[in-house]
Amino acid sequence: MAEPFVPTNIIVTGGCGFIGSNFVHHVARAHPDVHVTVLDKLTYAGNPANLAGLPPERVELVVGDICDEGLLERLAPGHDAIVHFAAESHNDNSIEDPDPFVRTNVEGTYRLLEVCRRYDLRFHHVSTDEVYGDLALDEPRRFRPDDPYRPSSPYSSTKASSDLLVRAWHRTYGVRATISNCSNNYGPYQHVEKFIPRQVTNVLCGVRPKLYGDGKNVRDWIHTEDHSRAVWDILTRGRLGETYLIGADGERSNRDVLAAILERMGQPADAFDWVRDRPGHDRRYAIDPTKLREELGWRPLHTDFAEGLDQTISWYRENEPWWRPVKEKTEARYAVQGQ
Ligand code: NAD
Ligand code: DAU
Repeated sequence: MAEPFVPTNIIVTGGCGFIGSNFVHHVARAHPDVHVTVLDKLTYAGNPANLAGLPPERVELVVGDICDEGLLERLAPGHDAIVHFAAESHNDNSIEDPDPFVRTNVEGTYRLLEVCRRYDLRFHHVSTDEVYGDLALDEPRRFRPDDPYRPSSPYSSTKASSDLLVRAWHRTYGVRATISNCSNNYGPYQHVEKFIPRQVTNVLCGVRPKLYGDGKNVRDWIHTEDHSRAVWDILTRGRLGETYLIGADGERSNRDVLAAILERMGQPADAFDWVRDRPGHDRRYAIDPTKLREELGWRPLHTDFAEGLDQTISWYRENEPWWRPVKEKTEARYAVQGQ
């Protein structure tokens, strides 16, 4: 087995978003010798409040765009790795306007790879299971690292494009890179445009939750803290050039997840609206995490979804000032889309 990589000064792109900020908290808590420079553009999805409470001598926020080559040139020296979370991340938005998805997800990843090539930085690319397309509900198969890419949406096709750039920069230029493709995350600090926080905050606002299509679509849920721990393991002990799939055996239909939310929030089982389906809506995602488990010994700690959901609901109940300012605008956008 190769020597582990021991980072001391890392750049985390998208560290003010949902998963990126969770990763920064994880590093600050579990790896106190590491300094983190967060590079974040603070789009509608980025919130510096997500980094509240972190020691300023160990976590620095640089507000900027991953597409800004000059900024990357100034930032790179003195760092030893980039952990790349920054992205436009919401499928529905990508269907309305793909432009920022191509720019940030494809061009942004290209710019970061180029700076890693010039300064010999280690690169970890955070990607999604959606690059593999979808599975039928009754298919006895889960995604595996070497499956062919079959992305369906503008979002997932830009993530797939960025993965291919990473693979090519590793093979052609020897950039020391790894890729992880994770399934659906849940937990605190997730933007209210996403499924679970949208329904929870709808109930808290006295608005009926919204279910797309027939509600039978399946997602493979993982707590974001388990994702963060896996990313650290891959960054430090993953084999260069490899792809690792991150999943916690959490397959559930959207209808079941919504039923659990309604029950836990004291609502009748039918207190939701059926709304227009997402165009091109992927039917089912499911991850086979064997490689991650066997090679790196990673295991999820949040194995009780009901408990994780309870904690997440409580967090949104207790942190209304965090989500309230963006709720109305998010719902107005959905209303225009008939969703
Ligand atoms: P998010 O939308 O919550 O956060 C994205 C962050 O990136 C924000 O802070 C935003 O300001 C920043 N950003 C966007 N464009 C930028 C740019 N051009 N330059 C610098 N910063 C920019 O996203 P998330 O849900 O936390 O997802 C993080 C990563 O994980 C993404 O790469 C996503 O594809 C991947 N992923 C997400 C999930 C999930 O369930 N949410 C699952 C698997 C993989
Ligand atoms: O699989 C990983 C992906 O998971 C990540 O790459 C994406 O960044 C992340 O957003 C997520 O994508 P999804 O499209 O699966 O997540 P979303 O929360 O948007 O939707 C989850 C499911 O719930 C999906 O089948 C659509 C459905 N849905 C969504 C919303 C917002 C509803 O039924 N009603 C809703 O209001």
